[in-house]
Amino acid sequence: MNRIADILIDWYETNGRDLPWRQTRDPYRIWLSEVILQQTRIAQGTDYYLRFAERFPDVGALAAAAEDEVLKLWQGLGYYSRARNLHAAAREVVALHGGRFPTDYADVRALKGVGDYTAAAVCSIACDAPYAVVDGNVYRVLARLFDLDLAIDTGEGRRAFAALADEQLDRRRPARYNQAIMDFGALQCTPVRPACGDCPLHDRCLSLAAGTVAERPVKRGKTQVRPRHLNYLHLECGGRIALRRRPQGDIWQGLYDLPVIESDRPLEFTELTAAAPFRELLGTLPFRLVRTTCMPKHQLSHQSLHAVYHRLELDAWPPAAGEWTVVSGDALGDYAIPRLLDRYFERIGSGGS
Ligand code: ADE
Repeated sequence: MNRIADILIDWYETNGRDLPWRQTRDPYRIWLSEVILQQTRIAQGTDYYLRFAERFPDVGALAAAAEDEVLKLWQGLGYYSRARNLHAAAREVVALHGGRFPTDYADVRALKGVGDYTAAAVCSIACDAPYAVVDGNVYRVLARLFDLDLAIDTGEGRRAFAALADEQLDRRRPARYNQAIMDFGALQCTPVRPACGDCPLHDRCLSLAAGTVAERPVKRGKTQVRPRHLNYLHLECGGRIALRRRPQGDIWQGLYDLPVIESDRPLEFTELTAAAPFRELLGTLPFRLVRTTCMPKHQLSHQSLHAVYHRLELDAWPPAAGEWTVVSGDALGDYAIPRLLDRYFERIGSGGS
């Protein structure tokens, strides 16, 4: 009873979390939970999982839905390409596997949006296939137990950790082992203030012995973050506002947003109105500036968004509105919008009306 795997599983029997997707071995539901959990913490993820599982009880129901509905249900999780991939993968399962969610590793790994982690999680948790998961929790637990100083954000580091994870996997109980090590990382071997004092692995932990717990895992460097300046136009006319669908190839693809003019630096409102893109949007129509609202920096993984919203009253919609979706404030809730826009509406205390 003293292999690391046995100790982890023993710990899991008493400390593991009781989560709704742990009541099932349906690969579709396990995949759904894993995709959602890549995006958020367990508490919020549970709510989303329950809503998705209720609305789309099987992969056929998800495949049959309109993309807009899937995006709407995903709203608040961010990274909408994940929601689009989820939907596309469901359609692949219908087209390629007759609507039966696959459990063969290669078939699962080939689905849209599914990487090594998700394929290993689905196949091991749904049917005890011998694939070790490697997520942030697993990197941390292994880096500490073995006091590994290889950077986890390098190819070499990733390969070494994948090999170590595979070596440690309990091949008799992959489902239990994988969930045990992830829960152990989330609850015991936490990033900050890990509970080393009552850790069942404390006499096996090389970084605890070496005094390097706080430095594990090692990361080589931060990813580059690009600043963007977004000058939004909150256009109102007759109690309605203009939404514009986000284009392909940029953040929030397919979501509804306000018309926006991007600049390479912060712009005063007068500078904005003098810029050609502003004239292209509004022509020579008169407008009244109701209010300008500067938002706090909105951080995405690779971009820092500096957004300013200018609320303008119009007497008529400009020709460009033909390409927009003009809605009443009451109907805004029917559209999937970026979290930044949600925050703006919260800030001005309005559903947009
Ligand atoms: N985080 C993501 N998926 C998980 C799982 N199946 N168990 C524990 N933590 C997780």
